[in-house]
Amino acid sequence: MLTAVVGAQFGDEGKGKIVDFLASKADVVVRFNGGNNAGHTVVVGDKTYKFHIMPSGAVQNKVCCLASGVAINPEVLVSEIEMLKKTGKRFKLLIDSRAQIIMPYHILLDGAKESKSKNKIGTTKRGIGPCYADRAARTGIRFGEFVREKIFREKLHAVLPFKRKELNSYGIRCPSERTILAKYLPLAKKLKQYEADVSLFLQKALKQQKRVLLEGAQGFCLDNDFGTYPYVTSSRPIASAALASIGISARLLERIIGVAKAYCTRVGSGPFVTELKGKLADFIREKGKEYGTTTGRARRIGWLDLVMLRTAARVNGFTELAITKLDVLSGLKKVKVCYAYRFKGKTLKEVPANTFELAKCKPIYREFEGFEIPERMRSVEDLPKEAKAYLRFIEKQCSTQIRLVSYGPERTQTLRI
Ligand code: GDP
Ligand code: IMO
Ligand code: MG
Repeated sequence: MLTAVVGAQFGDEGKGKIVDFLASKADVVVRFNGGNNAGHTVVVGDKTYKFHIMPSGAVQNKVCCLASGVAINPEVLVSEIEMLKKTGKRFKLLIDSRAQIIMPYHILLDGAKESKSKNKIGTTKRGIGPCYADRAARTGIRFGEFVREKIFREKLHAVLPFKRKELNSYGIRCPSERTILAKYLPLAKKLKQYEADVSLFLQKALKQQKRVLLEGAQGFCLDNDFGTYPYVTSSRPIASAALASIGISARLLERIIGVAKAYCTRVGSGPFVTELKGKLADFIREKGKEYGTTTGRARRIGWLDLVMLRTAARVNGFTELAITKLDVLSGLKKVKVCYAYRFKGKTLKEVPANTFELAKCKPIYREFEGFEIPERMRSVEDLPKEAKAYLRFIEKQCSTQIRLVSYGPERTQTLRI
């Protein structure tokens, strides 16, 4: 059984929490895109785990995989493995030989491009864009090469002069070959034991009826093609891309769970049709602790955008929705939700393909009565009727059933519908 959990908005929807909630019934959890630009939070009792690259399934000692489409910062990965081992976790880790390695020059280039560019994307400066650019240009270094010293030395030696030149053009010095090797060779030694063919492993696991969870990073609107280009990430967070990334037939994907907050947030630049400013935004930001898990940046806040969610549901083919952070809206007198855009006198029900047009769209809102969410609920019946009406509207507008509702960061603050 193959299930994908993917972000339906601009990332940070609570994918880590939902994956952890579902992981008790899974055998394998796989990260299929992005790198340590992601920050996934899992809260169990009084313990909080923050993952940037390790799949959230590690908390429940599941088999964890990093598929070919992932960009790996080996230093961050080693530190997460060590942190998990220290807390007594016993998970198995498999890293696909084809996964790309984030090199020190990728991180420097990401930072340099951001600081010099007029139209800043607001990246996480983790080297993600330059790393995927190297993959496309066929100058990247893959995990299987990285863990073989001779090949790694050769690859690095060949690519470094070009990276030095590029960095010099920004007035930045590239670290020497020796410095890079001194840092990366010990990391390669530690990680070599995890090398695997994740595509083959998953094929076999699925044949043996194992339950595999795919953990998406980022979200639909950050997709390199379908997001608000160029204000996007450099990988593909959508469900169909996950199959290509893990190397499994698209026919095998059974469930596609889209995760969305009950409102909307965005980190970094780019259009945000339902964005709020002022006191209301500050209230939601503080109540929802909307500060980046990776960079600590304050997240931009807005009302739920159902045009975006409808498009995300269509393109991903969500079989169900998980709505998170419903509790954060508690206490508001009125709650608004955008169900269409106004653009040049027309009403739009789908996100326009052109980002410059999206930037000019105005939200059309429906207003709902506010609600108070109890701290503990036994079933969906405990939800106030105004919250139920809000959720029903989301389902109807997106033609997708809500199967999970999260009303707090802790694992047990989750309702199945
Ligand atoms: P991810 O990147 O999609 O995994 O999400 P993040 O972990 O970056 O951000 C989600 C944040 O909201 C984390 O701090 C979670 O602990 C927290 N969270 C998740 N679900 C809920 C919820 O239902 N209510 C509240 N209040 N917090 C939640
Ligand atoms: P998770 O998995 C929210 C955003 C950055 C920036 C854009 C490009 O935690 O949901 P990048 O560093 O990827 O080149 O930055 O994408 N971004 C995220 N925003 N959650 C994430 O991951 C993100 N990963 C990247 O803020 O706008
Ligand atoms: Mg996050």
